[in-house]
Amino acid sequence: MVRSKILGVGMGIPERVLTNFDLEKMVDTSDEWIVQRTGIRERRISDTQTASSDLATVASLQAIESAGLTPQDIDLILVGTVTPDTLFPSTACLLQHKLGARQVPAYDFSAGCTGFIYGLVMAESFLNYGSYQHILVVGVESLSKITDWEDRSTCVLFGDAAGAVVVGKSEDASGILSTYLGADGSLGNLLYIPAGGSRLPATQRTLDQRQHYLKMEGNEVFKAAVNAMKMSAMQALKKAKMSKEDVDWLIPHQANIRIIDFLAKMLKLPREKVIVTIDKLGNTSAASIPTALAMAVQDGRIKPGHNVLMVAFGAGFTWGSVLVRW
Ligand SMILES: CC(C)(COP(=O)(O)OP(=O)(O)OC[C@H]1O[C@@H](n2cnc3c(N)ncnc32)[C@H](O)[C@@H]1OP(=O)(O)O)[C@@H](O)C(=O)NCCC(=O)NCCS
Repeated sequence: MVRSKILGVGMGIPERVLTNFDLEKMVDTSDEWIVQRTGIRERRISDTQTASSDLATVASLQAIESAGLTPQDIDLILVGTVTPDTLFPSTACLLQHKLGARQVPAYDFSAGCTGFIYGLVMAESFLNYGSYQHILVVGVESLSKITDWEDRSTCVLFGDAAGAVVVGKSEDASGILSTYLGADGSLGNLLYIPAGGSRLPATQRTLDQRQHYLKMEGNEVFKAAVNAMKMSAMQALKKAKMSKEDVDWLIPHQANIRIIDFLAKMLKLPREKVIVTIDKLGNTSAASIPTALAMAVQDGRIKPGHNVLMVAFGAGFTWGSVLVRW
């Protein structure tokens, strides 16, 4: 079996900052509530001209360059997103064109906040299949475009961003050590967008009832996230025959600082060993892990030889983990 490795990382973060104090002027909320319950202080919001493929292009070019490659070297493009530019064509195809990549396969997949983890596992499988050398994996979201800015229970949580990596063959002991994925569709209606698909197509009524916006039963999702992320973290370690003590860095999906702290405590990791971006970026769904990874690699926290455990949970429900030796 070929060992897969992340060869380069990148991110695309919108410039506009929306703080909790800005939100205080929009809905009945407070900076204190948001910080205490979520850990979020601000998030980034893209402008009306920017769609997911634009953020993905910035992140991808950075990842490709940091891998020492050009877009011509990419031979498969995988994009995890729940906020594509359009229902079709896929954001991956739009990205292929914007990158000036060759006419290589490109497709989107929907795994909610676990999107990037699902993408990494697919990339590993494709590499083992043998036909692909350099696979671009992107997690990108424009959640501000599906957020109900009148619903205080959700609008304080989300932000926009893209993160990307290039996956290729490892020539040494570094690379992906183990992976784990799961899903449970029976709980899908706890976090979803009711209308706009084939179940409830867009009508004046769905618009009037605000059914094209994200809906979430926060409490229920919280409980499920804690359990699934704990299980996913332990499964990745078990499959790699490693223990909690072997983890140098934890990169959890950034949904709530209380979930992140719970996971860190369970793994007996101090906060300094956990990559946290939620205070600055909020929950960016599929983009949260690859942007956190890109930041920690670019600022030198993650170094060669470090064991990095990435754990996610999201709409579907979906969950999963990837353990990497950097
Ligand atoms: C959304 C979330 C932050 C809410 O936190 P919570 O502690 O569960 O809060 P609750 O929903 O129980 O609400 C508590 C109270 O705060 C109120 N509230 C909700 N949003 C508020 C806001 N933005 N500002 C002020 N008060 C708010 C509620 O109305 C409720 O008031 P009540 O007690 O008078 O009814 C939390 O449930 C969460 O993070 N969920 C998981 C998200 C997740 O993991 N997603 C993963 C996939 S993306």
